[in-house]
Amino acid sequence: MQVINIGILGLGTVGSGVVRILRDHQNKISSITGRKLVIKTVVVHDLAKKRNVDLTGINVTDKIDDLINDKDIQIVVEVMGTVTTAKEYIERLLNSGKHIITANKDLIATYGSELAELAGKNDCDLFYEASVAGGIPILRTIVNSFAADRIVEVKGIVNGTTNYIMTQMSQNHVDYQKALKSAQELGFAEPDPTNDVEGIDAAYKMIILTQFAFGMNVTLDDIEVEGISRVDLEDIKQAKKLGYNIKLVGIAKLINDRINISVGPVLIPEDQPLAAVQNENNAVLVTGAAVGETMFYGPGAGELPTANSVLSDIIAVTKNIVLGTTGSRFNDFSREGKQALPDEVVYPYYISLRVKDQPGQMLKITEVMTSVKASFHLILQTEIDNDYARIVMTTHEMSEAQLKEIVSAISDLKDIDVIASYKVLPD
Ligand code: HSE
Repeated sequence: MQVINIGILGLGTVGSGVVRILRDHQNKISSITGRKLVIKTVVVHDLAKKRNVDLTGINVTDKIDDLINDKDIQIVVEVMGTVTTAKEYIERLLNSGKHIITANKDLIATYGSELAELAGKNDCDLFYEASVAGGIPILRTIVNSFAADRIVEVKGIVNGTTNYIMTQMSQNHVDYQKALKSAQELGFAEPDPTNDVEGIDAAYKMIILTQFAFGMNVTLDDIEVEGISRVDLEDIKQAKKLGYNIKLVGIAKLINDRINISVGPVLIPEDQPLAAVQNENNAVLVTGAAVGETMFYGPGAGELPTANSVLSDIIAVTKNIVLGTTGSRFNDFSREGKQALPDEVVYPYYISLRVKDQPGQMLKITEVMTSVKASFHLILQTEIDNDYARIVMTTHEMSEAQLKEIVSAISDLKDIDVIASYKVLPD
């Protein structure tokens, strides 16, 4: 059987998983592709580091040129992380004719178009299924199975770290710092958790999902991003009393054919499937005009789930090599896109207030709501201490512009502070 040689750049969690799965499932993969896939070379940063995966027969080096100059290597898997170095290496590899598979969402969200163009020029494939929602095969599903449909919304829980933290806060009533510490101890959260907890990792994934679902190229600047680091345990409890779970949700939707993308804490009615996605799991809901709402659920990270997505890319490249069809974009859908106008983005909202507990406060809040023509849906007051109460409310649909006016007007009131304002997903 003909051999296809593979190089791997980076031997952390995902790289080790790729070595393991390729070894364990060699026969099945060969029977599907008609080729024997062999990992020839692995490039690592630290040659002395002990590895917990069997590397027998694999050339382990710390020199990128050992991949670039090896004419026998056709496919390179980049799982080293970092953006600048990975970009430079991938460009050099593409220019030397190697097909690239990467799990690097920061890189693809920022430089995906540029790299896809370079891949095309070199007649190479550039695939990155593992970059969004780890083990959930969502990108190729959108490319293949939604090709004929018109996607109107993609939303989901695309960050496992924050979903773990929110689940712990909600189920075990621990505060944010405790839940974060537990996520770090279990290895879900990095020592510097900023990218995850401030919603940036989820925003990168939404950029890639938007490109696939709507054919539109957007950047971080086009996304309204709020993380979970300021979510108060008390709001999770109050939302629960009203029948909602709070989770970090990314939403990309077409409104009058314009796009609106956001990442932030959102109240989800507890009978909706997204509300039941717990701990480090991810879920993506894709709504097509023809098919309606579909949901894809699974592990968003982890060695073998993410490596399985990398392997699906390796198999796709191999089939293209066999058929002589390399060099097409992962996603060919491309169209001009405009941002939705602030007035046309409407949601029900949850607003949480700290209010001095004295006569006339509800009247002041009602006056603000009335002045911007916003309407209450549910209201709940609980005691904070002898002097202060927390008033939480959900509203009927209103625009972001209305919400901003309400938050600004209430913040100007004496003795009333806005603690939080989050979108509410409709029932
Ligand atoms: N840090 C990500 C998460 C996993 O917590 O979901 C890799 O994308």
